[in-house]
Amino acid sequence: MTNISLEEMNAVGELLRSSAFDAFELEMEVTSDGEITAIALWTDCTMFDKVHSGGADQPSRRQMLSFLPKPLSVVEGSTVRLKGRYDASTGHFTFASSECSPNNSQTNSVVSMSVERWHFPMINDERRNSAYNRAIKVLRGQRVVDIGGGSGLLAMMAARAGAEQVVTVERVGDMAECASRVLEANGFGGKVSVVHGSSLNLKVPDLGFKEGLQPTVVLSEVLDDGLLGEGVIPTVAHARRELATLNALVIPAAAKVWAMVVNMPPQPEPIIMPSSSSPKDSPARRWAAYDTLRPPEVKKYTSVRLDRVKFMPLTEPFPVFGFDFDAPLDDPSSVADYCREQAVQVNSIAAGCANAVVFWFTLTLNRSGETDGLADICTYPAMTEKCGASGSSRCWNQALQFVKPTIVGGAGTTLTVPCAHSPTRMTFGDIMT
Ligand SMILES: C[S@@+](CC[C@H](N)C(=O)[O-])C[C@H]1O[C@@H](n2cnc3c(N)ncnc32)[C@H](O)[C@@H]1O
Repeated sequence: MTNISLEEMNAVGELLRSSAFDAFELEMEVTSDGEITAIALWTDCTMFDKVHSGGADQPSRRQMLSFLPKPLSVVEGSTVRLKGRYDASTGHFTFASSECSPNNSQTNSVVSMSVERWHFPMINDERRNSAYNRAIKVLRGQRVVDIGGGSGLLAMMAARAGAEQVVTVERVGDMAECASRVLEANGFGGKVSVVHGSSLNLKVPDLGFKEGLQPTVVLSEVLDDGLLGEGVIPTVAHARRELATLNALVIPAAAKVWAMVVNMPPQPEPIIMPSSSSPKDSPARRWAAYDTLRPPEVKKYTSVRLDRVKFMPLTEPFPVFGFDFDAPLDDPSSVADYCREQAVQVNSIAAGCANAVVFWFTLTLNRSGETDGLADICTYPAMTEKCGASGSSRCWNQALQFVKPTIVGGAGTTLTVPCAHSPTRMTFGDIMT
């Protein structure tokens, strides 16, 4: 472990030196044989003589990882020298061996602020990728439109499976360019074409399938932690109605949102708890005025890894809404403005203050093959079995929505949970006993 000092103060708190870290050198003792592939970083912040660490022993904090341009072999007991740079415009630290020339850093060319950071854990989620691959490997001879292509991963799976033609559509320019390069590098350049744009603005000829034909498969993965936030309902509805053949196969075919009523006590970041969700006598209530300043998305649901925060379940998981993305086109659920609301009744399993609903989803990818009735992916791994899924995935977080606190007297109390969804968002209302 080593320190990069961001600022230096003198004894009376005057700033002596700052930003000395735009280019710096590090010297570190190697503690075991191996390869250094990345540097982990976090910040310690000193306030009133107390150090607040953002390090790995703080479960609620996230750390940064900066990969080296190439792995560096090291031997225990030796000293490793690295050159570091900080780019204030992107907030990124990059490191390279002291022997590399500074312009050799390949990392600079691949960092783009327009690419959401979640692409990286998603691409590395082997369980998600394998489940998709199983659903895609039966697409021999099909014409596939892959909506929201990202790096082109699913499109390559389709091409590898022997699809007749694959077109991947990506609305973020840097991502579309990245997909073209990834496809080229993997030998799929001539087999998969990339269309840069939102699928919602496209018509059949824009896809460029041979002879202007329509795709026979609508493939997508435009799912956020709360299922609907990335627009899967309008996106799939549009693709089925405006782009694809009448009976096109839809992957994913279906999803189900699952929820659990919980008590979420006040705790440090990453949870931003509205004061109105704290018990009446809680000191947090004194910050009520602050709630009005919160961005609207925080007032609705936020993202959380439930295995990293404290909470007490007050119910078992219960299904909230099922979504059939492949429903017949005359079914109301197949339109872009699909909304529903209902009150779900569920029994409590413990006493406590119900102040939040956590939710996640299961995903059924391809219904055309043999099915065992189980969903393919559950986005809350601990609940895979309870939610009737055969596998799980870790790249999605769970969603958390705070509600007005309600005291639940004990196990067996019937709770009424108002649930609703718009085309792009799940919401839960205040719980009644
Ligand atoms: C969750 S990522 C999935 C990437 C890739 N398909 C994969 O599974 O690895 C979703 C991608 O879809 C893109 N996207 C979402 N909706 C889109 C739309 N309607 N048209 C084109 N791109 C879209 C986003 O920019 C993002 O890159």
